[in-house]
Amino acid sequence: MNPYGYFDDEAREYVITRPDTPLPWINYLGAEDFFGIISNCAGGYSFYRDARMRRLTRYRYNSVPLDSNGRLLYIRDGETCWNPSWRPTRTDLDSYECRHGMGYTRIAGQKNSVSVSSTFFVPLGQTCEVWDLRIANMSAHTKTIQLYGFVEWCLWDAMDDASNFQRNYSTGQVEVEPQVIYHVTEYRERRNHFAYFASSVPTSGFDTDRNAFVGLYDGYNRPRAVAQGHCSGSIAHGWHPVGAHQIDITLEPGQEKRLHFLLGYAENPDDRKFAAGEVRPGQQAINKAPFELVRAALADSASIDRAFAELKDYWAGLLSIYAVDIDEPHVSRMVNTWNQYQCMVTLNMSRSASYFESGIGRGMGYRDSNQDLLGVVHMQPARARQRLLDLAATQLSDGTCFHQYQPLTKKGNSEVGGGFNDDPLWLPLAVYAYIAETGDTEILAASCAYADKPDSGSTLLDHLELSMDYTLRNLGPHALPLIGHADWNDCLNLNCFSTTPGESFQCAGDIGGSNAESVMIAGLFCMACDKMSGIYDAIGRRVAAVIVLASRDRMRQAVRDGGWDGDWFLRAYDAYGHKIGSASCDEGQIFIESQGWGVLGGVGLEDGQARKALDSVNERLATPNGIILQQPAYSKYHVELGEVTSYPPGYKENAGIFTHNNTWIQCAEALLGNGDRAYEYYLAICPSKKEEQIDTYRCEPYVYSQMTAGPDSPTPGEAKNAFLTGTAAWSFVAIAQYILGVTPTLEGLRIDPCIPRDWKGYRVTRKFRGKTYVIDVANPNGVSRGVKKLVVDGRAIDGTLIPLGEGGETVNVACELG
Ligand code: BGC
Ligand code: NOJ
Repeated sequence: MNPYGYFDDEAREYVITRPDTPLPWINYLGAEDFFGIISNCAGGYSFYRDARMRRLTRYRYNSVPLDSNGRLLYIRDGETCWNPSWRPTRTDLDSYECRHGMGYTRIAGQKNSVSVSSTFFVPLGQTCEVWDLRIANMSAHTKTIQLYGFVEWCLWDAMDDASNFQRNYSTGQVEVEPQVIYHVTEYRERRNHFAYFASSVPTSGFDTDRNAFVGLYDGYNRPRAVAQGHCSGSIAHGWHPVGAHQIDITLEPGQEKRLHFLLGYAENPDDRKFAAGEVRPGQQAINKAPFELVRAALADSASIDRAFAELKDYWAGLLSIYAVDIDEPHVSRMVNTWNQYQCMVTLNMSRSASYFESGIGRGMGYRDSNQDLLGVVHMQPARARQRLLDLAATQLSDGTCFHQYQPLTKKGNSEVGGGFNDDPLWLPLAVYAYIAETGDTEILAASCAYADKPDSGSTLLDHLELSMDYTLRNLGPHALPLIGHADWNDCLNLNCFSTTPGESFQCAGDIGGSNAESVMIAGLFCMACDKMSGIYDAIGRRVAAVIVLASRDRMRQAVRDGGWDGDWFLRAYDAYGHKIGSASCDEGQIFIESQGWGVLGGVGLEDGQARKALDSVNERLATPNGIILQQPAYSKYHVELGEVTSYPPGYKENAGIFTHNNTWIQCAEALLGNGDRAYEYYLAICPSKKEEQIDTYRCEPYVYSQMTAGPDSPTPGEAKNAFLTGTAAWSFVAIAQYILGVTPTLEGLRIDPCIPRDWKGYRVTRKFRGKTYVIDVANPNGVSRGVKKLVVDGRAIDGTLIPLGEGGETVNVACELG
């Protein structure tokens, strides 16, 4: 079915069986501060906290051949040079296997009876990655081989590294000790951090100058040092510092040897940057103490095994908080493993570093990271709390928010600024999710200044109220929210009017005085009101709760009055007051976002409007590969609509299948009780289902991609932008809460499934507020929705809510639908 690999569900691994996947299929290393992206050929790079500002190793995006550079391991065995990960020599291997697991990747290759298995991972609590190697001789003869481990240093700021050659070719510096290469560029001046690449065993050679190791006109496919069989002990002075270790190994028949490399990042206090003595005149030795600690902690194979076991336990723990036992293989593997894993990756990366995000562009997105939290509050409540406060701290005192911030500095990015009018409203959703999960209402009183007023003395609750108020202060002629630069659809730039090539669609143009309005924001506002009323109730502010619900009702009315097109919700009004997403338009007659948010905002639930909107989605937008963003695609550029019309038809926001907004329709269908459709839509974009059409789909089948090319494109079904997408968090919300129906609330755990009628039942295990709920759902009468009986530890309960405190430490719940 899939010629490239398969799921090993038991091991929670995706196994890639040949190296030439349709695109590099990547994984992430690292849990908190130190991260790497790693492809199935060990390509990729590593960084500390911030892929732009603290990049350790260099990667060539968009290179030929693909996936150039990474964690290079060369074997020289007689005249044969090869890589266990196949690239870059591309020497045919006798066997190859890559296993992407939870926070680690293991790549094993065999050639001429030598097998090399390399496990890459970041030990918890460390700022380094381990390359744990096992080298075995499977032949009947003694073998003497050479192993080379290699990295190419990036000079820290990845943007500068790729552009400022007039300076950088003169700054590169290293320091070398037996078994360790230190990268110390700019350490002599304003940096107090360095990188290291260390071998656990004695080496027989090293290089630190790229030209010496690779050869000026050679390539990574045949580096000169490996070809000639030895390193030359080069020291980099400027140009391109690298780290290369040569290890000569003799193996008896059947013998296996183990060794490891450490690739890491270390900082020194400013007053202890240097050690005594000089490496050479004008180069003071660095203080290596922080590295020595790491080396001591990870000195031998036993300590590496312990660190790896800890990582395994960490993931087993995280993935035990929500688990489902169900007879649907796609649901089972996505919910129990890969979807939650991807949620954690988005928590760490936001939209910064992937195979499609270069790490030098967008940092942490305000709307993105708020939504990402919906998928991780149950696994990482403490980090979620911190993230909420970091995000809120990038809000300005007028209510708008910096659209992005840099993870290292946590400062808003002033090039992009604010003015994306959906941004503020995602905060109430994320805060509600966090409080529902943890009960920590104290976070509301946490102090959190506005980005432009460090002494504002404001609390998180002030930020929430300001966010709601921002929307209400920025309404247009139809009493709908003004869109600003854009709403969730970053490419609907109704105030931009850009005719200058290369100009940012998001930021160009003067939004002051424009009346362009967004129906999507209106729906989002209504949901934010629901969340705010819950939050107010939780802190005993009933009057505020009532007021916010009144605002919600007014907004719902505004949508009914000015945001309904007859068969579906309008999308927006442009700066001239013309309708967007209306049957009266030539193109772009119906958009997905306002259908999802109209329904989730509770508009038209009673009178059939909501149902009608979703039926229109089904008729006009649904395809077997998911739901198209809008139809018909825009065939030409419209200056008044912006970037959405800049994409060729069928790609990205111009009628691509944007998986993120598909999840809102899944939720909306479930809200209206149509479990069959909710699940049909779930499966249509489910990555593991894409194995069936992998040569068309091309991206990783274990994580969501941002988009699949739509039917208007020449390449329908082709995915792009894998890994960093809000689809991860929202898919988890859709399946875990709306479909399987287990939802944390401020009052307790709600059990209200909405499933396909032919599902017989399943079991969800959910850890929540200190208890473990074991929830058996049975569907004897083949319905989608409706809890007929809810028995909690033997006691029948009315309704669908298990109040907090009900039941023992393990709460056994029997839920019968009917
Ligand atoms: C992309 C959007 C993205 C935006 C902001 C656009 O080019 O199509 O998906 O949100 O850039 O970075
Ligand atoms: C990707 C961006 O990260 C996100 O913020 C935006 O909502 C979507 N693209 C849709 O444009």
